[in-house]
Amino acid sequence: MKLLIREIIIVLLSLIVINESVKLSAVKNKYHKGVKAYTDERWTECIAQFEESISLYRVYRKRIINCRLKCNRNQYNSEIQNNIEDLKIYELLLKKTVCLKQCIGSVADTHLQEEFQDIIPIMSARKPFEYLHVCYFQMNALPKAASAAYTFHFGHPDDITMLNNVKYYSQQPEVDVNEIEDLLIENFMIYYKNGKDAYNKNDWEKTITNFEEAIKDYFSVENNCRAECELQPDQQISSEFFITIANNIASLLHCQQQCQDILKKFSYQSGIEFLTDVLDYLQISYYYTKDYEGAAEAVSTYMVMIPDAEDMIENKKFYSSFVDKEAFVNRSDIVYYFKRDTYEKMILNLFHKDSDEGSFKIKDEL
Ligand SMILES: *[C@@H]1O[C@H](CO)[C@@H](O)[C@H](O)[C@H]1NC(C)=O
Repeated sequence: MKLLIREIIIVLLSLIVINESVKLSAVKNKYHKGVKAYTDERWTECIAQFEESISLYRVYRKRIINCRLKCNRNQYNSEIQNNIEDLKIYELLLKKTVCLKQCIGSVADTHLQEEFQDIIPIMSARKPFEYLHVCYFQMNALPKAASAAYTFHFGHPDDITMLNNVKYYSQQPEVDVNEIEDLLIENFMIYYKNGKDAYNKNDWEKTITNFEEAIKDYFSVENNCRAECELQPDQQISSEFFITIANNIASLLHCQQQCQDILKKFSYQSGIEFLTDVLDYLQISYYYTKDYEGAAEAVSTYMVMIPDAEDMIENKKFYSSFVDKEAFVNRSDIVYYFKRDTYEKMILNLFHKDSDEGSFKIKDEL
């Protein structure tokens, strides 16, 4: 009965959050209350405030990202019939801006107020977990402390202090090492791991299911990360219009390219490396399930990204005895990803080259 009441309260609470706009100010407020409680050694309060800040931020982030994805996907009608100067591009950008302002205003109403935006990098850097593990530890909740420390460690692999904390927790008798987890882990990593486990057991059907899901989820996670790049504070403003625009574009693309590094964690790969790796597992698994079309498609798509991979050239020859030439089709989502990535790298090189030649100044880090 007790459990039932608790579940009902949780459902009610989440309904309230779903219907109301999430304020960035509330995320910031909870976070700072958490820090204050930590400093005052009020551990229960510390846990409550940080946990709330984390779950509010999760909802908030999802909504902002959805707005950006939606406004980027929209097909906008053009009022401009002819291609005169850059007017069509301006029109598109203006319409996108209207869409974004409306959407963000309706789901997260303090987002556009700069005084609250400084909480965003703090939350994405997993900062609450740096405090939380101590508060859990003080309350004797060691398994939770272990996972909180591990979650921070996952975002900051070079932080030796936290690594030592994780080691300490994992040696405690109350803690089951297998249950220490990154509380913010992405699904594609879980699918990837399950896919590999299934592969090692020669369970081809399960390997295929997991790796196919891994690809789908990877795209979704990377696209979310890319959408987050649309918030670019501290941009250099030049009084020369196009220099300001160019700086912003370079900064956006640079951030979007960095998503591949952010998603590359410990034993997990990202970007082209990840996709080719998964396609390799898939082509073998499709072969063993006698789905030769699936195998041919995986090999062909692999070679879009790495045309001269010798073992794939061999595989292609081998599969040619099972299927027609027409079976070597390329997966459109992966081809799209690859093209976008190639063009982005090309444009960024252009920025580098031109800024080296001093024709305009862009941010130092680029
Ligand atoms: C797949 O991509 C490769 C490399 O870009 C290309 O040569 C080939 O024609 C494509 N296959 C199909 C069926 O479109």
